[in-house]
Amino acid sequence: MNQTYINELKNHIGEEVTLKGWLYNSRSSGKLVFLQLRDGTGIVQCVCFRPNNEEVFEKAKSLGQESSIIVTGKVKEDTRSAIGVELDVTGLEVIQNASEYPITPKEHGTEFLMDNRHLWIRSKKQHAVLKVRHTVIKATRDFFDNNGFILADTPIFTPAACEGTTTLFEVDYFDDDKAYLTQSGQLYNEATAAAFGKSYAFGPVFRAEKSKTRRHLTEFWMVEPEMAYAQLDDVMTLGEGLIKFIVERVLADRRDELAVLERDVTKLEAILEKGFPRVHYDEAVKLLKEGFAKGELDNDFEWGGDFGAPDETYLSKQFDAPVFVHHFPAVIKAFYFERDKDRPECALGADLLAPEGYGEIIGGGERAMDLEFLEQQIEHHNLPKEAFEWYLDLRRFGTVPHAGFGMGIERCTAWMCGIEHVRETIPFPRMLYRLKP
Ligand code: 4AD
Ligand code: MG
Repeated sequence: MNQTYINELKNHIGEEVTLKGWLYNSRSSGKLVFLQLRDGTGIVQCVCFRPNNEEVFEKAKSLGQESSIIVTGKVKEDTRSAIGVELDVTGLEVIQNASEYPITPKEHGTEFLMDNRHLWIRSKKQHAVLKVRHTVIKATRDFFDNNGFILADTPIFTPAACEGTTTLFEVDYFDDDKAYLTQSGQLYNEATAAAFGKSYAFGPVFRAEKSKTRRHLTEFWMVEPEMAYAQLDDVMTLGEGLIKFIVERVLADRRDELAVLERDVTKLEAILEKGFPRVHYDEAVKLLKEGFAKGELDNDFEWGGDFGAPDETYLSKQFDAPVFVHHFPAVIKAFYFERDKDRPECALGADLLAPEGYGEIIGGGERAMDLEFLEQQIEHHNLPKEAFEWYLDLRRFGTVPHAGFGMGIERCTAWMCGIEHVRETIPFPRMLYRLKP
């Protein structure tokens, strides 16, 4: 059966079309019933006028929210409508008349909505967020595909930790063996970069984060590019290019969704004009100390510490574009970082802090090249050397300077949308206290 989609209705003015969808909302007044029909591509008002068709009018009046219906009608131009058209209904087929849909147009608490996430994703705002996510992902893939990167996905079951042992999810893996859900594909990316020059992995990663913040999920999607013969500066250049490409694409393709979300798009437009500042960790510490002295931060910051959310927010506010902080103290970073030759206490890492309080969205850097140094680091971090032998092979057979990063899709999407919490940027979030639906 033929079907027209709501986002194509403008091309069918004056024609009779058939729409298939669900009842978003309805109201009636005298001889009229107004059905708000949604089909995944948009929402359109469908008008049932009693004198035109008594049977359609009665059926329409009886429908509950989220009933599944097929509506036939004539497309009419309507300047008051957000999409410029409405439908004069001539036929109505009810697939299911639903009743007592739990999410009504009134206000609900977040926990209730999260319990009903499988239904909540039908509502306007959630729908808009997930469409922005789609575009962030598409832009990300296009960016790497257009820049000579080969997609080489990495395993989810892994024999060892990548990002420290405190956030590992352990699973049974046959015959008394243990496996861990991957925290990052990076170690494998280093192998694929040595094979392809430039590679990237894109998939779900897992962190047993006991933190209940608005920026943390236990399962999230990360894109991770890796480049052979590349260094710290290359990471920052690539990261800036990626972010600008994503912002440009979201602004071009998701204007309507950003409007639904009441996103101030001038803030996104502004970053396209700017170079992203690159700030040494020493300099960041100086800024944080000034912030504390001015009373703008509650805690003083000491060299050697990791930034908390208030520190990140304060730092990003000192600049009018996303800002890279680089040369972190090695003690707070993972085992695999290359060190600054002149200051071995500094790791050649770089994090990108997004504006507007969105915090770190990119983390990466240059990888240690030297076999003996890495062997020491593995021992120092109490990691099982045997599980890393294959990784050490990359230093035995043609080691080169190489670098890469990871970007969290959900944090990036939250920033694009201007929404508070990452939990709404993934269809079914997994968090400390949430494993369902
Ligand atoms: O900084 P992270 O931990 O870096 C790595 O895992 C590197 N191995 C990546 C690499 O160099 N290939 O994580 C990278 C990004 C963060 O900047 C953030 O955007 C996101 O992943 N992220 C999270 N997003 C949601 N929930 C969490 N719990 C996250 N932890 C990190
Ligand atoms: Mg990080």
